[in-house]
Amino acid sequence: MQYRTMGKLGVRTSAFGLGCMRFNGEAKGDGTIDEEKAVALIRQAIDGGVTYLDTAYVYLNKTSETVVGKALQDGYREKVTVATKMPLGFVKDRESMEALLDEELRKLQTDHIDFYLMHGIDKNEWEKFKAIGAPKFFDDMKREGKIRFKCFSFHGPYEDFAYILNDYDWDMVQIQYNFMDVENQAGKRGLKLAAEKGIPVVVMEGLLGGRLSHAPENVQALYDAFPVKRSPVEWAFRWLCSHPEVSVVLSGCNEPAQVEENLRIFDGAAPGCMDDAELQLMENVRAAYLDRTKIGCTGCKYCMPCPNGVEIPGIFSAWNNVSLYCTDPAKDRRLQRIRENGAGADKCIGWGACEAACPQHLPVARRLRQAWDELG
Ligand SMILES: NC(=O)c1ccc[n+]([C@@H]2O[C@H](COP(=O)([O-])OP(=O)(O)OC[C@H]3O[C@@H](n4cnc5c(N)ncnc54)[C@H](OP(=O)(O)O)[C@@H]3O)[C@@H](O)[C@H]2O)c1
Repeated sequence: MQYRTMGKLGVRTSAFGLGCMRFNGEAKGDGTIDEEKAVALIRQAIDGGVTYLDTAYVYLNKTSETVVGKALQDGYREKVTVATKMPLGFVKDRESMEALLDEELRKLQTDHIDFYLMHGIDKNEWEKFKAIGAPKFFDDMKREGKIRFKCFSFHGPYEDFAYILNDYDWDMVQIQYNFMDVENQAGKRGLKLAAEKGIPVVVMEGLLGGRLSHAPENVQALYDAFPVKRSPVEWAFRWLCSHPEVSVVLSGCNEPAQVEENLRIFDGAAPGCMDDAELQLMENVRAAYLDRTKIGCTGCKYCMPCPNGVEIPGIFSAWNNVSLYCTDPAKDRRLQRIRENGAGADKCIGWGACEAACPQHLPVARRLRQAWDELG
């Protein structure tokens, strides 16, 4: 296992952090987990050298923290740092923040949380939480020793990330990052910005939730033609590990074999572990994925609202997603939501205001019908 020092915190950590959001539960859609198997999986990772666990109040129908707490008995707590998150949707005021943190400590069976994150905060929520005293709460809890580090996780645009990052004395940030997301969300700019400030970065969705673990044909052809043979999972993780700015790469494993493989991969992946040819391969792989893009919709939402309620950018995004990563449209959560909300392209009457508003000059109505047909 490779170990790294977390920026200004100076904390030593394994480069591989176990994400405790899956365990064949939420990822499979039924929310159930085999507790015994999950505890064994967590301990397998720790026995293999993992020192960083990531969970959250809401994961696995609120059962993840309890399972992590059970896994951390018998001397395992002392071997790891634990990250968990404040569930923003459950917070009303200071009192509820305190009650939730105490509940999380009880479930985790610990007297302190190492990394306490505001879960998936955006700019508006940050302003709202500032107004109800979240910064002081984090400072107080750190002083009292209930949490060691004040952190946030983030999925919004770079500009909001920079705003939140610069607006408070954060100890760590968690962002979505992988070779496909260099320009999405906080992206490479966010990674660099945090590093410049000495704030350690923990990366989530390094395999895009598993979508990068199986390469489509045109991508696999590039991997196959390269003289060094590695699985898509290994290429994706090595690319992340090659970044000196990344402290921890989280991955949520479902099976012992995945933990085992990831332990092996992270064993040999130090910062700078990729040479120029390998970095170029990953550029080519990214371009090959992007070649599969169905439509150049940037999600700017200038076309919205549609008078007939069609969720135009959501449909295009799902269409691209299904094509890029060869996923099953029937299992695409966003598409399910669009269908449930009656916001599908079958509602389009070809009125055309969207086309006039589109800065990319896309033939929106025609492409919407094509997308809907292809998505079944
Ligand atoms: N704060 C937030 O807002 C937020 C959001 C998302 C995630 N997270 C955290 O970040 C963690 C990491 O994200 P993630 O779970 O999405 O990580 P990820 O590494 O992108 O995806 C995990 C999935 O990849 C597949 N996988 C992992 N190792 C593999 C291997 N060796 N071979 C083949 N497939 C493999 C598995 O999918 P299959 O078994 O299904 O193929 C697994 O469920 C989460 O567990 C969670 O703790 C936080």
